[in-house]
Amino acid sequence: MAQEDYILQVKNLSTWFKLDYGMLKAVNDVSFSLKRNQTLGIIGESGCGKSVTASSILRTVTTPGKIVGGQILYNDGKKEADLTKYKPDGAEIRSIRGNEISMIFQEPMASLAPVYTIGAQMMEEILVHTPKQQRDKKKAKETCIEMLKAVGMPDPEQKFNSYPHQLSGGQCQRAMIAIAMVNRPKILIADEPTTALDVTVQAQINDLMKSFQKQYNMSIIYITHDMGVIAEMADSIAVMYLGRVVESGSAVQIFKHPVHPYTRALLRSMPVLGHKTTEHLPAIEGNVPVPIDPPDNCGFCTRCLEKMEMCAHVVPQTIEIEPGHFVRCHKFNPAD
Ligand SMILES: Nc1ncnc2c1ncn2[C@@H]1O[C@H](COP(=O)(O)OP(=O)(O)OP(=O)(O)O)[C@@H](O)[C@H]1O
Ligand SMILES: [Mg+2]
Repeated sequence: MAQEDYILQVKNLSTWFKLDYGMLKAVNDVSFSLKRNQTLGIIGESGCGKSVTASSILRTVTTPGKIVGGQILYNDGKKEADLTKYKPDGAEIRSIRGNEISMIFQEPMASLAPVYTIGAQMMEEILVHTPKQQRDKKKAKETCIEMLKAVGMPDPEQKFNSYPHQLSGGQCQRAMIAIAMVNRPKILIADEPTTALDVTVQAQINDLMKSFQKQYNMSIIYITHDMGVIAEMADSIAVMYLGRVVESGSAVQIFKHPVHPYTRALLRSMPVLGHKTTEHLPAIEGNVPVPIDPPDNCGFCTRCLEKMEMCAHVVPQTIEIEPGHFVRCHKFNPAD
């Protein structure tokens, strides 16, 4: 695939938190690519570094967190920029954030500002990204109402003047998508966007994102710990464990030919269609450790059923086992 087909390429990204009791390596040498107009699913258990990866891209990581290495190459179709080179809250990243790259979060209620109406929050997103001389409040309001309609908000004119606490959970999530979408971003990062919602609303929100993707030629990074949702949403997948991507590839490669023991375990723990959900699902044994001053090893070795001698004291390198399919496991490295 030609370089220009990728809208975002994350290369060897490391984001660490310097804590009093050690270095927490939340994101540790992470690489993945997002193709234009496609969806990349990032999956992994709680604490594996999914949200820190997202905030690294948007440059919203705050002290004691810091990007300590790697590149985040964003290609808007005209030119390529390395987002790690921008100042965390400088004009360059602010012109991209909420405009070209937007984000929606797991907890809509917590992410919306409680003291501003939905309309005020949408208007702010438009106006802050428009040069002063060109600001047109009437036109901006029309755009907001149109977007509220597009996300399926009932009574959009009335909801424009509502405060977040006056909306249901599903409506709040629609409002957050409307805010994120109002500038027609090229990339939408959705961080567990439906976890707090009931199943019917979850499906509606995911359908909405898919239809926006087609309509606006948008690329999506969809973060979740749910393999079922990934199966439905993603064209390609990155599996994270303890701050690292342990396997990545197309959705077909990951679902049909998973190779990393962790990916295989995740897939085994997925409910199978037609089986009763009350049946026992094989879970992954053990707990996820916290990567504070992690030893040089494979992070999964404490739980891996196929562990070898070297896994406990050598970091496996990422290798490409078939075109576009990458794995970080000693079992597959011919040099090991
Ligand atoms: N502001 C912070 N200060 C210190 N440590 C942090 C901070 N934010 C995240 N971490 C740590 O970084 C690691 C990765 O966290 P992250 O939030 O990215 O996980 P996650 O994969 O998004 O998990 P979840 O599925 O629960 O949302 C965790 O060990 C977490 O405790
Ligand atoms: Mg998270």
